[in-house]
Amino acid sequence: MPALKSHHKKSSHRELLRVGDDAPFQFTESYKSLRTNLEFLSATSECKTMIVTSSVPNEGKSNVAVNLAITMATAGKRVILVDGDLRKGTLSRYLHLGKSKSHGGITSLLTGSAEWSDVLVRLNDQNLIFVPAGPIPPNPAEILASEKMRTLIGTFNKFADCVIIDTPPASVVTDAAVLSRFCDGVIFVVRPGVTTIQGAQLSKKSLEAVNARILGAVINGYDTKKSSRKDGYYYSYSYDYYSTDAGKSRK
Ligand SMILES: Nc1ncnc2c1ncn2[C@@H]1O[C@H](COP(=O)(O)OP(=O)(O)O)[C@@H](O)[C@H]1O
Ligand SMILES: [Mg+2]
Repeated sequence: MPALKSHHKKSSHRELLRVGDDAPFQFTESYKSLRTNLEFLSATSECKTMIVTSSVPNEGKSNVAVNLAITMATAGKRVILVDGDLRKGTLSRYLHLGKSKSHGGITSLLTGSAEWSDVLVRLNDQNLIFVPAGPIPPNPAEILASEKMRTLIGTFNKFADCVIIDTPPASVVTDAAVLSRFCDGVIFVVRPGVTTIQGAQLSKKSLEAVNARILGAVINGYDTKKSSRKDGYYYSYSYDYYSTDAGKSRK
């Protein structure tokens, strides 16, 4: 995913950079090609429930999870986006949901303290349902490892064409590895200038230790100007796109 300019001057301010009409062509197009690659994968093996993780914070997991979910829903798939970061869930804030729906989420569903209707949030797109993290539990890894969680993911699976789960960093806590056992695969995000080789290797080891299937890596936040100068890919890609009639009418 190309780097986008933040709207905020303070670099410490976290925000969601969203695909859609205002986003640059390359940004939206990168998500469409991620969607296409996943569709190819699902032609040969089950690839419906995916977790998005990376080695450390700030590599863009949550941004990738939301944008992938929107991109999938745009193609007409019924998508459930789950905030599986029970420690520091950011998706409700990124989606500007505030403290609506009585703070319910995954943890309230697992403890039986909320009904489905209190928890599920239908986002603008009719195909996209969001499940917040819920109140922070004292034992996130145990909760995620529970049979109840497996059943919950199974239920999401039944009602959706695609389930995307955002998670905490895999080299810091075991949550992503634990969750991967209930999912079809893992999308691993790396970000130039943030990811270290050691961090990525450590995460890969911890995911492989539980036999997680790593579907592939998403390189997030790279400088498109530098990349296009180096290999000309972006220039030629954009050129081809605009130069065909089919390209012009494509959504
Ligand atoms: N492609 C990108 N270009 C520019 N900034 C990005 C990009 N992806 C993520 N960011 C920024 O990085 C910060 C961390 O992103 P986030 O998705 O919350 O990371 P994580 O979930 O891995 O901690 C956010 O402020 C976000 O806006
Ligand atoms: Mg995050």
